[in-house]
Amino acid sequence: MADKKFFVTTPIYYISGNPHIGHLYTTTAADIMARYHSLQGSKVLFTTGSDENSQKVVQAAEKQGVSVTEYVNKEAEKWKQYFAQFHIQYTRFIRTTDQDHLDVVQSFLMQLKEKGFIYKGNYEGWYCVDCESFWTDKEVEDGICPDCHRSIRRVSEENYFFRLSAFQDQLIQFYHDNPTAIEPLSRYNEVISMISGGLRDISISRHSQEWGIRFPFDSEHVLWVWFDALLNYITVCGYREDPTSFSYWWPADCHLMSKDIIRFHCVIWPAMLMALDIQPAKKVYVHGWWLTDGEKMSKSKGNIVDPTKVIEELSNVAGISKSLSADVLRWFMFRETTFGEDAVFSMQRLLDRYNYDLANDLGNLIHRVSSMAKQYTQGNVPEGTLIDDEKCQFQNFIEQYTACMTENRFKDAIETTWTLLRKCNKMIEEYKPWELAKKEDIQPLFDLLYTLLEGIRCAGIMLIPFMPVFSQLVLDSFVEQKENQLNLGILRTHQALAFPPVFFPRVKKTTKSEKKNEETPKESPKDEVYCTIDEFSKFDFRVAQIIDAQKHPNADKLLVLKVQVGEHQKQIVAGIAKYYEPQDLIGKKVVIVNNLQPVTLRGEKSEGMVLCASHKDHLSIVSPENVDMVCGARVK
Ligand code: MSP
Repeated sequence: MADKKFFVTTPIYYISGNPHIGHLYTTTAADIMARYHSLQGSKVLFTTGSDENSQKVVQAAEKQGVSVTEYVNKEAEKWKQYFAQFHIQYTRFIRTTDQDHLDVVQSFLMQLKEKGFIYKGNYEGWYCVDCESFWTDKEVEDGICPDCHRSIRRVSEENYFFRLSAFQDQLIQFYHDNPTAIEPLSRYNEVISMISGGLRDISISRHSQEWGIRFPFDSEHVLWVWFDALLNYITVCGYREDPTSFSYWWPADCHLMSKDIIRFHCVIWPAMLMALDIQPAKKVYVHGWWLTDGEKMSKSKGNIVDPTKVIEELSNVAGISKSLSADVLRWFMFRETTFGEDAVFSMQRLLDRYNYDLANDLGNLIHRVSSMAKQYTQGNVPEGTLIDDEKCQFQNFIEQYTACMTENRFKDAIETTWTLLRKCNKMIEEYKPWELAKKEDIQPLFDLLYTLLEGIRCAGIMLIPFMPVFSQLVLDSFVEQKENQLNLGILRTHQALAFPPVFFPRVKKTTKSEKKNEETPKESPKDEVYCTIDEFSKFDFRVAQIIDAQKHPNADKLLVLKVQVGEHQKQIVAGIAKYYEPQDLIGKKVVIVNNLQPVTLRGEKSEGMVLCASHKDHLSIVSPENVDMVCGARVK
């Protein structure tokens, strides 16, 4: 087996509904990591799948009038095809109805029971079928689920419990010893406070249920779907069937997910493993949400962006294949978002980026260089050498890219690739090949062309994780060179080039669907009251980091924020409670007015103002584009 290995997982999805951009985002992120690590020479295990033992599938099957088995078989197939459309290359799509998974779950339960971590008791509380979550009386108001806000049922039954409370100290110790086990840091802190707040034993069975995995020692009880689902991560690497494989792959390098399910993955899951002396995963990487109107996009709310429709529309307006359109969407999702932060999808934005970055920077460069090769070197790679790195800086770009990919900074990795592409375009302007071609010594022209082609080849490799189909087309255009190495100067001379004439035709019109949705706020001339630079300089705008956020005790619309500004901390009361949950703000960098006259708002001191953009019913906090900007930095 190879020395280097990488094991990445996505959550296994509830398949009772169509996949949307949120599911695609996580799965593509895992695919990007898998492809990158594979390019680096690692052996890769990348798993995704379907969470099929839930009550939701029973309800959905009933609605369609088919058996549950028939229903899950059909839906799982649909999800697999959906991922294939987006070029997702997982190693395994696990279904929790797979036989090896059932075996793992039952053996795991037996061992927990033998070790005394499972006991029988009475459960009195609430259960939400949509979230598949248990809730206490304290958490539920008026019979409404605190998470999805739908009506939920009160349950009173004999259940099996897992002794979660026994793992509080061990969990704290684990996270203390492994401070990068949850990223970003704000989520790590959130989990630490969840655990420090005290852990109660959890109910892990349902009594009056038909569908699901039965307890091996009590066939009247069905296992709580989350307990079964989490175990998929060890099924996929051979926990019961293949101990050699299991000890090779486990612990997983990265569990990917969005912030809604960290309690399950960062508290319950590691405790389950600790109970059997198995190490927890090396890292849980938590990304943000795709939002619609400030809310998490989800199929149950019906506010989803359907990626299949997006690529259909793109393919129509741009005149490119659906397969290439799928690549564009993959690339766009990570070009647009800082991994870890929330994002809003806009078709118009996608088309703008398509025009600027793909049609202009990338497409034009390839077109120009391939035309030059046709004109000056019969369409072949010339006998040239790479221009001095001080001038072209390719080595520097490759190193930056590698650092970004290693740290999952996908947006920065894409940005670095574009810096390289733009550098190539700039070199054409600076070196003026059309003038070099008139000179007697043709070598400088050949060196330039060789360098530009090497730039394109490297960019092709750098884009493999994001745009695998496009990259393959680019790399196949170097007819004789089949290896994908990101080493400079290995481009083989004299080989033929076969670039397609146009990769990304420019899109001319705004799409209809966007025109409806994207009304720009009008700036009326009378709003234009000028201020002098002296007046402006009186304001002290600073970057600050939110270190705590609470609901205002006396006002529904207000949040009380504690922010760090340089070495100081201050309190700011902000009218953003309608748009942000307090826990989602912790760790966020914002821009504040630092020298605003302090006031008291409904009894709470406010020593500044958080800047927000607002339009109609939308509100968005203003943040520094680079999340690493230091707290206290002046904004001017
Ligand atoms: N079945 C459980 C997971 C069990 S894993 C042991 C589940 N399924 S889910 O279908 O609801 O998928 C949740 C995951 O889908 C999120 O953690 C995230 O990865 C992805 N997304 C779903 N909606 C999302 C957004 N709106 N935005 C970004 N990703 C989100 O929970």
